[in-house]
Amino acid sequence: MFSVGCWMLVVFHFPFRPMKTEILSTHTPALFAAAVKRASELLCAGEVVALPTETVYGLAANALDEKAVAKIFQIKGRPTHNPIIVHVASNEMAQLCVTKWPAVAEKLSRAFWPGPLTLVLPRAKKIPDNVTAGGATVGVRWPGHPFMQAVIRECGFPLAAPSANLSNQISPTNAEHVRTQLAGKISLIVDGGQSQVGIESTVLDLTVSPPRILRPGMIHAESLAAVAGNIQHPTSNIQHPILRSPGLLKKHYSPKAKLVVLNWHDDADLSAQLSTLNSQLSTCFIIAHAKIPAGFGAENVSVIPHDAEAFARALYAELHRCDAAGAKLIVVEAPPDLPEWSGIADRLRRAAA
Ligand code: TXA
Ligand code: MG
Repeated sequence: MFSVGCWMLVVFHFPFRPMKTEILSTHTPALFAAAVKRASELLCAGEVVALPTETVYGLAANALDEKAVAKIFQIKGRPTHNPIIVHVASNEMAQLCVTKWPAVAEKLSRAFWPGPLTLVLPRAKKIPDNVTAGGATVGVRWPGHPFMQAVIRECGFPLAAPSANLSNQISPTNAEHVRTQLAGKISLIVDGGQSQVGIESTVLDLTVSPPRILRPGMIHAESLAAVAGNIQHPTSNIQHPILRSPGLLKKHYSPKAKLVVLNWHDDADLSAQLSTLNSQLSTCFIIAHAKIPAGFGAENVSVIPHDAEAFARALYAELHRCDAAGAKLIVVEAPPDLPEWSGIADRLRRAAA
């Protein structure tokens, strides 16, 4: 009995032994170059590393190496039916990942790349099945972050990278967020500072006409339409969202705390609305941008500037902070109903679902 018990201990515990996670800074040219070299070495060896992008941090692997990509799914606990975005560092590299490059792809990439826009196109054979979840399309994006660009150029191959969080949790917008979720599971996190965009890229399906937004982001429908002509807005009643883009699932991107989005006139109105939510004021965190609560005993109030870009940049850090502080309820002041806030409104709806 004893020896069987010991044997089981070895067999079942060995694979989960945490690995040492190195965190590399990039804030001087020498550190930047050393981090590019280290990240590229690991990626060329089929390893998975966390890298900064301008939207959110990504968990990257060689997009042409099926075994390396399989590790991403395992580390994140990601369902295999959810395809992964392929990151490139030029239009030419993007074209090698797809079988069609329509005029609209050329126009959009020239207008918005490098940047927070993912284009879904028919997939080239060299892209492994697990990257596309077995589907006939692949999402490609040329990210704007200089570190990510440098690593892709150094590797010479595209990088498959979902957000660097455990499946269904909030995306990381700094290296510390990644460390909290993934330390011990990956060997390297590169610290490239706060993500400048702060929410995930807009995902646009170019295999349908007119192109359809699968996931809203900071490049909104009006901007896309100015370049591409007609655009189909995302709809909540798409028949099989899971097949089109699991990022469309109603509940996604959630903090641990319950989240509600509210509109209020003044403190008294907010206080009255909170009392119907049955929550202790001490564990309720309020994130405001226009009507700042001041005087009814709510202590945990944070203010993000009333500006869509600043709000997006700060939102996930606020949600991570609320969770870490033990929030039970997060109340977010409703965003204005304007195109530039549509990506933010989408993430808040999902977080509240
Ligand atoms: O900004 C971003 O897009 C970040 C950074 C790291 O680039 N990445 C990111 O990846 O948010 P992820 O895996 O967390 O979300 C990718 C979304 C998912 O909703 C996925 O279903 C969708 O893009 N997607 C990827 N490939 C697709 C495809 N071929 N067809 C439809 N949807 C796709
Ligand atoms: Mg994600």
